[in-house]
Amino acid sequence: MSGKKFTTSSFIEAKKKNEKISMLTAYDYSTAKLLDEAGVDSLLVGDSLGMVVLGYENTLQVTVEDIVHHCRAVARGVKRALVIADMPFLSYHVSVEESVRNAGRMIQEGNAHAVKLEGGEEVIDKVRAIVKAQIPVIGHLGLTPQSVNLFGGFKVQGKSEEQAKKMIQDALLLQEAGVFAIVLECVPEPLAKLITEKLDIPTIGIGAGKYCDGQVLVTQDMLGMFSDFKPKFVKQYAQLGEDMKIACKQYIEEMRDMEFPSKEHTFAMDEDVLSKLY
Ligand code: KIV
Repeated sequence: MSGKKFTTSSFIEAKKKNEKISMLTAYDYSTAKLLDEAGVDSLLVGDSLGMVVLGYENTLQVTVEDIVHHCRAVARGVKRALVIADMPFLSYHVSVEESVRNAGRMIQEGNAHAVKLEGGEEVIDKVRAIVKAQIPVIGHLGLTPQSVNLFGGFKVQGKSEEQAKKMIQDALLLQEAGVFAIVLECVPEPLAKLITEKLDIPTIGIGAGKYCDGQVLVTQDMLGMFSDFKPKFVKQYAQLGEDMKIACKQYIEEMRDMEFPSKEHTFAMDEDVLSKLY
């Protein structure tokens, strides 16, 4: 990892050099700053925001305003990583014109470097138009959470021959439309490997095995901060949720016992001035 900014070209160079690309989600300034300092290559302001930050049941209620707002905060915290704004549900489904305008807002107002959107052939006209507007795009295939109602739940995708063939076709179509990478979510490892081998652009896996060109995880999942459910593909690298509860309990206890705030956390006052106040 060098201090050089990670750009969309870095994604392609990394694939050529067989170097893995790291991606994590971020939704706020201080977390983005920490992850950037740790050396992550790219930060995704994912619509997972809806579930892990806003407490919704799924991602469908997230708006363009939500993503723009959180993206601005993330962008302020980053020096090196590429910031990617997730296009939320319905922001790129109605018309090509509206899709380009919404993608433009992510760049102009959200200070993102690129956008991500879900789907293949069904959205290819929107992808082409956004790329034509000079906005870098990442595709997203497999389990696309915005289609949760169509899939009937959060399920592994691409297990049948028909589904697998469609995913390969969609990946090639997206590459041809000009996306600079594709996220593969909840895809069997052999299929993700095959797609990775077929493409010149990198694949970023989440629940898609180790042969993808990079990996992405939701930061709250990876740090053990989100306890509503834990997908099979998540590895928890820390238990910050437990650590936060321990710290919080200690704070409550010390505050009740008047151990906190102690002298070092307290401002003094001149005794003469004080005596005149009584
Ligand atoms: O919204 C999100 O966080 C995502 C990742 C899971 C890829 O789309």
